[in-house]
Amino acid sequence: MKLPAKVKLVDVGPRDGLQNEKQPVSAEIKIGLVHRLQDAGLKEIEVTSFVSPKWVPQMADNAEVMHGITRKPGVRYSVLTPNMKGFEAAIAAPREEWPDEIVVFGAASEAFSQKNINCSIAESIERFAPVVAAAREKGIYVRGAMSCTVGCPYEGEIDPSRVEMLAGLMKGIGVQHIGVADTIGVGTPVKVQRALEATLKHYGIDDISGHFHDTYGQALGNTLASLEMGVWQFDTSSAGLGGCPYAKGATGNVATEDVVYMLHGMGIETGIDLDKLIDAGVYISEALGREPNSRASKAIRTKRAG
Ligand code: HMG
Ligand code: MG
Repeated sequence: MKLPAKVKLVDVGPRDGLQNEKQPVSAEIKIGLVHRLQDAGLKEIEVTSFVSPKWVPQMADNAEVMHGITRKPGVRYSVLTPNMKGFEAAIAAPREEWPDEIVVFGAASEAFSQKNINCSIAESIERFAPVVAAAREKGIYVRGAMSCTVGCPYEGEIDPSRVEMLAGLMKGIGVQHIGVADTIGVGTPVKVQRALEATLKHYGIDDISGHFHDTYGQALGNTLASLEMGVWQFDTSSAGLGGCPYAKGATGNVATEDVVYMLHGMGIETGIDLDKLIDAGVYISEALGREPNSRASKAIRTKRAG
């Protein structure tokens, strides 16, 4: 089995993690999390989303958070922009505060597209096209996220042909990198590999990442199955934060701590300091009044207390 020697992790905790929190989380805490993640060695952080505050109130402080972070050289900062309004808001700041990367997010399931972004898959592509063009024209890198690539909370199992179709549409409008998301964490390794194979019809292996929620405890297995195919980029969430407000019952992304522990144990480099990462997860969990949702974090903290 030939595995990648290095893996890039994108911590999506400040965005995917906190978007679903019931309790208010201040911009200051979010900024504190971003700073701790970059100090732990994360090379890309998904900071916030420029979506409607009526739909996702937790991200209403998007501009304040982007303005408040002190950037670290070599780190990329990404944000979600579902339409031109969101993109314009993301760049309504001095250039040094622009995101390095924007994310347009579609779904392989019609029902989820409607619930999440209030339009069909075809309409979403029409909305994304000018966003992608404007971002690329300004030198901002464009990532696409494909939700529900194995299962949908409304439609059930999703056929890989739907993923292939969406990946082709994303490619057609100029999306440079594509994320294959198991939004509700129902995927198992072979199903995830099928979704990745479908995506590979349109994107090279270096332009694909995995984004696995851990609802059914399958995310590490799905990560390993992806690594076996040569995928070397993954979205993860410190302290296992996360969930989508439009995917009821789905829990957080796989914990960054657990993925880093697995990768380092396999001799795969991440550039991340696991101890500092654990402290970042403790910081945000304390702010939320709960324990980090990471087994590796718990085990290592128990040992530390020793
Ligand atoms: P809409 O209601 O269809 O939009 O929402 P509209 O264009 O008809 O506008 C309606 C109102 O929203 C107007 O305001 C607009 O100005 C405003 P009004 O005139 O009524 O006062 N509006 C906006 N305000 C701020 N920022 C914007 C924006 N756009 C319109 N960008 C929209 C469409 C996409 C905006 C809405 O459905 C929305 O915000 N959805 C957010 C969904 C979301 O954030 N979901 C979670 C992230 S995706 C995810 O978690 C999955 C992922 O992790 C991968 C995975 O796990 O699957 C990425
Ligand atoms: Mg997600």
